[in-house]
Amino acid sequence: MSQLKPLIAGNWKMNGNKSLISEFAQEFNSQAINEIDVLICPPSIYVDELAKQVDAHESVLNVGAQNVSEQASGAFTGEISVDMLKEVKASFAIVGHSERRAIFGESPQLVAQKYKQALVNDITPILCTGETEQEREDDKTFDVIAKDINAVVELAGIESFKNGVIAYEPVWAIGTGKSATPEQAQAVHRFIRGHLAKYDAEVAQGVRILYGGSVNENNAAELFKQNDINGALVGGASLVSDKFMTICNNAQSSK
Ligand code: 13P
Repeated sequence: MSQLKPLIAGNWKMNGNKSLISEFAQEFNSQAINEIDVLICPPSIYVDELAKQVDAHESVLNVGAQNVSEQASGAFTGEISVDMLKEVKASFAIVGHSERRAIFGESPQLVAQKYKQALVNDITPILCTGETEQEREDDKTFDVIAKDINAVVELAGIESFKNGVIAYEPVWAIGTGKSATPEQAQAVHRFIRGHLAKYDAEVAQGVRILYGGSVNENNAAELFKQNDINGALVGGASLVSDKFMTICNNAQSSK
């Protein structure tokens, strides 16, 4: 972990309920966590509830969404806008999660629009990128990632990474229990930073790059020892407060 402040983010996907939200808001207080940023992204219907519980319990949790519309408002049934997220006090939005790309057909260009829409409206976007197992076997990992990043640079400029976050999530590691090794993850994170540095070295040094894919309470510490890993985007283990707390503590002590 470099000098950048670690960010540990939980992506609950389509899981969780109000009672889990209240449990997390109570447990993640400033006594427990004080040197890192912690974020929970519940299903969008619970974002408001999470923000209210965070206030009520003076929790350190940041509140985020798992997705956001690239449109400002209008006839887009089922979508949620940045203004709505802001009104309910969300400050982060995940964009381009591999499940959105694979299941809902989101292209790099659409994801770049979502990234920009969030950023210009003061919601910090977390851009997810990562290769499938086949793409890794075919030696296409860096191409896939460069394509996702380039789409954002083309639309929003390299400066857009000053206030954004990148999450490297190899598709083969998501929900499989088969995390990338610390060395595999570090190699890709270094590639991402190097790729950004071709546009702007300072921006590249300042961007937080999270690793996601079967991060748990047992493998987090080793991942956080890597130079270019600045935190984690956690799925399954972010639904269990003890496990998520252990991951956060590992990030704190790796600083
Ligand atoms: P798991 O931690 O369950 O593998 O999920 C990772 C993920 O997709 C987080 O966005």
